[in-house]
Amino acid sequence: MALLHRFGCCSPPSPLPPLSFQKSTSGSDSYTVSAFQRRVRYPRRFSSFRLTATLAAESPAGSVSDGGGGPPKLLMEVKDLTAVIAESGKKILNGVNLSIYEGEIHAIMGKNGSGKSTFAKVLVGHRDYEVTGGSVVFKGENLLEMEPEDRSLAGLFLSFQSPVEIPGVSNNDFLHMAYNARQRKLGQTELQPLEFYGHIRPILEMVNIKPDFLNRNVNEGFSGGEKKRNEILQLAVLGADLAILDEIDSGLDVDALRDVAKAVNALMTPTKSVLMITHYRRLLEFIKPTYIHIMDNGKITKTGDISIASILEKEGYKAMSTP
Ligand SMILES: Nc1ncnc2c1ncn2[C@@H]1O[C@H](COP(=O)(O)OP(=O)(O)O)[C@@H](O)[C@H]1O
Ligand SMILES: [Mg+2]
Repeated sequence: MALLHRFGCCSPPSPLPPLSFQKSTSGSDSYTVSAFQRRVRYPRRFSSFRLTATLAAESPAGSVSDGGGGPPKLLMEVKDLTAVIAESGKKILNGVNLSIYEGEIHAIMGKNGSGKSTFAKVLVGHRDYEVTGGSVVFKGENLLEMEPEDRSLAGLFLSFQSPVEIPGVSNNDFLHMAYNARQRKLGQTELQPLEFYGHIRPILEMVNIKPDFLNRNVNEGFSGGEKKRNEILQLAVLGADLAILDEIDSGLDVDALRDVAKAVNALMTPTKSVLMITHYRRLLEFIKPTYIHIMDNGKITKTGDISIASILEKEGYKAMSTP
């Protein structure tokens, strides 16, 4: 579940209550919530977001200018990023280089175990990993020096490959608290329950989610596809300048994939960007990437356009190996 501060590394922003979500010891991205309402841990990704985009069936295939005629601005620049697994010291990222401009959609593909999810989690500051070299500049700031909460507030969002369940906490309560926590942090007005419902209704429509979804506990008993939709709902409620979507297409049938893609496209504005990790070309047909990158052994070894995905589909990753 992407909203939570899952990494257990940082103090909650004052005056929020003490932390209460705890990472499971199994090593998965799962958490427990104890005594909800009294001990609530707030989400860590926030950014200003206004629902100004209209539903679009398809995304633009190219980068988008800022609408004022100027060139797109650099949103994130990753240079020679290396990282190890904190516990074992095993090297996973071996020098990732990637530049993302505002309005661009980037896709990362690559074999299982090539480091795609690790890269995504390192960007949001996951505790399991230690950065050993390189730099990441996000909106002009050194991302690697920022706490995970601040990365979120700066406009970074990660939809996890395996969203976690939070038994006993309704989606509505969770999103409401997340939203208000962001508002507080940004010094903006918090919404009362009814006001929040008014706020979230059009968002539900946009992501094609029925209102009764709100009464269900966060991801509890959700199908794989529902979990993925829920991630997108969180993205839509909280917003992000750079949304990182890790295998958002896994477990989705074609209708659900279309819905999720529609919602992601609807969230795109000329200044927002997406970094999506996928194995399959079909997602890229719905959310058209500006660039496709191939990750191999912890680094990006190839960058190109949609034709890369076609070659991959026909010939597999062998066709992408550098001689
Ligand atoms: N927290 C972790 N603990 C141990 N090994 C990990 C951890 N995270 C990633 N790995 C290992 O790092 C490699 C890359 O994993 P990952 O980034 O999930 O690959 P991908 O998303 O490309 O399939 C794999 O060998 C995986 O087992
Ligand atoms: Mg992965």
